[in-house]
Amino acid sequence: MLLGACSGPQSALDPAGREASEVALLFWVMLVGAAIIWLVVIGAAMFGGKWQKQPLSERAGLRIVLYGGAVIPTIVLAALLVFGLRLMPMLRAGEPELRITMSGEQYWWRVTYAAPDGSKVESANELRLPAGRAAEITLDSVDVIHSFWIPSLAGKMDMIPGRTNRLVLHPERTGIYRGVCAEFCGRSHAFMAFPVVVMEPAAFEAWLAREAAPALSKADNGAFLANGCGGCHTVRGTQATGSIGPDLTHFADRQSIGAGILPNTPDNRRRFIAETETLKPGVRMPSFGALPPAELGAIAAYLGSLE
Ligand code: CUA
Repeated sequence: MLLGACSGPQSALDPAGREASEVALLFWVMLVGAAIIWLVVIGAAMFGGKWQKQPLSERAGLRIVLYGGAVIPTIVLAALLVFGLRLMPMLRAGEPELRITMSGEQYWWRVTYAAPDGSKVESANELRLPAGRAAEITLDSVDVIHSFWIPSLAGKMDMIPGRTNRLVLHPERTGIYRGVCAEFCGRSHAFMAFPVVVMEPAAFEAWLAREAAPALSKADNGAFLANGCGGCHTVRGTQATGSIGPDLTHFADRQSIGAGILPNTPDNRRRFIAETETLKPGVRMPSFGALPPAELGAIAAYLGSLE
């Protein structure tokens, strides 16, 4: 059980980026430092209690208090402070090569990429990053305080309404990691997660170009529009232009649905539409379980065609 947290897609001790490597290093330095201090203190206590027969002279006692209680702790704590300060991200400069805005909403993530031509590309509930490049994530919130945390890539940072926070990530290893909301934000706080896909830079460029394009689906979106889905969701290139909920333009390309809670499969797409409020208590989208099965199936099929 203890070692279960040491690896996997959501472990701060199995870093896949520069910032997370520094967090892991700080953890190990602190752990080893604390272990040494613990051994010395326990050793001294045992020595004093069991083996020291003669009382110490006043001079020797004072020296132990002075060195053990003031000089050594000052040196050790100052060294750890300098080491920790050096790792603070805001003390380092550097131009990011990619700018992304992530906005927390109850209980999902609005993700906006700045495309190379200066235009904005909106997506949701999944973050894609190129390996080996610096990405600046601008963090904010529209409702309550959320917190953005990808343990494999960096430390956490709060998303606060009315305030903009900035986090620079340097992912180094390709793979799929897991990001979570790390601040209690309501009933579905635990269901507010997102996959993080770190790709080769060329694959990322190709993906971003595809993501920027309007939906290519030729599937029938009659049921989707007739039931009002387009009032809250955008599918670029169609009549669906709502902006209250997540953008669904290239929905079928995403790893998960419902902000990281279910794998993006045909069964789960149907289930999420029918049981939204059961799967995500407190979410603003109502459950559409009362729709005739054919309508439900048609909406789920349309979403599955949005590549
Ligand atoms: Cu958002 Cu917890």
